[in-house]
Amino acid sequence: MKNRKLVMIPGPTPVVRSIQDQMGRETVAFGDPDFIRDFKELIEDLKDIFKTKGQAFVLAGTGTLAMEMGIANVVKEGDEVLVVSHGFFGDRYVELCERKGLKVDVLESEWGKIVPVEEIEKKLQEKNYKAITVTHVDTSTGVCAPLKEIGEVVKKFEDTLLVVDGVCATAAEPEYLDDMGIDVLITGSQKAFGVAPGLAIVLAGPKALERRKSLGSIKDYYVDFEKWAPIMEDPSKYFGTPPVNLIWALKESLRIIKEEGVENRYKRHIKVARAMQAALEELGFSLLAEKEYRAVTLSNVLYMDGIEDGEFRKILAEEGAVVAGGLGQYAGKMFRLGHMGNIDIHDLVSTMSAIERTLYRLGIKDVLGKGVGKLTEELLK
Ligand SMILES: Cc1ncc(COP(=O)(O)O)c(C=O)c1O
Repeated sequence: MKNRKLVMIPGPTPVVRSIQDQMGRETVAFGDPDFIRDFKELIEDLKDIFKTKGQAFVLAGTGTLAMEMGIANVVKEGDEVLVVSHGFFGDRYVELCERKGLKVDVLESEWGKIVPVEEIEKKLQEKNYKAITVTHVDTSTGVCAPLKEIGEVVKKFEDTLLVVDGVCATAAEPEYLDDMGIDVLITGSQKAFGVAPGLAIVLAGPKALERRKSLGSIKDYYVDFEKWAPIMEDPSKYFGTPPVNLIWALKESLRIIKEEGVENRYKRHIKVARAMQAALEELGFSLLAEKEYRAVTLSNVLYMDGIEDGEFRKILAEEGAVVAGGLGQYAGKMFRLGHMGNIDIHDLVSTMSAIERTLYRLGIKDVLGKGVGKLTEELLK
């Protein structure tokens, strides 16, 4: 049987019809008055949903460009920066900062665990760090950082700005900038927003905007807050061509988020994640992330003995669900299953059933119905 393939990797996530429709619209001039109004509303909605009195930036690019933008505007060459790394994407910030000539200290955890908040506080006392970066959910490990607690600690250090990589968290895990002490939140369109890849999204709180001003001219050009802020204030101005259709798509995503209610969306993600995770364990898998710090956006699932990664993912794709492989030291040992954004019960049940059929075809015969049963039971609670 030829099956449709559900995209259950941790981004891009399934794009619902109303968002696809926005991408399929006839492209207009970026000076079109209706587009200018839409763009402006999008910026205001972002500030509103993520609660900042600062600025929101939306530009063509990926999450990595947003990472670049997030750090380039708040520090200058030679500044001390602390990177908290819970995996592959935390490590990416290390390289990115080093290339910018920053003095980088790293606090890293064993994969699947977190760096304890007390350790972060101790480290911040050692030097005058100008910024600290934290990956909210590291997609390589499925670990969610205790951001609220980290924010409380960083607030005690006047000079240290908190830069959060929310690429695999934003729109699924609570992120309220000004209350949580997040100075810069960087993210992308393709994960919990449920939009196609291609937008770099950055929110900068008041302290980050002040810091940018105090730096004077910076080396980076395309990602300079000062170049983009006038456009975000008044999108009739030009700096770089806005990705018109993706901006409409993100606007539709925010409409969906507002309709659902942002708090309801966060609660839904918890329910879905815990149900999927319980069902995966019911099938005999174990999860990499420690229970207390498990993300709601994805699950990083360790294979049981005898299951070969390539074969598992190939059969699973035949059965109709595409998942991602493990990264770094977990390549070949685990698969990564996204369950974020605008997915629904049909996506979840179909994916779980496809996983069961895959295990069955691999010789584990007593699984049919077990995962789906557990998933459904949990979702109905
Ligand atoms: C946590 C995290 N940060 C950054 C990135 C980089 O984003 P992009 O691939 O859009 O450049 C990713 C991508 O998966 C991610 O998961």
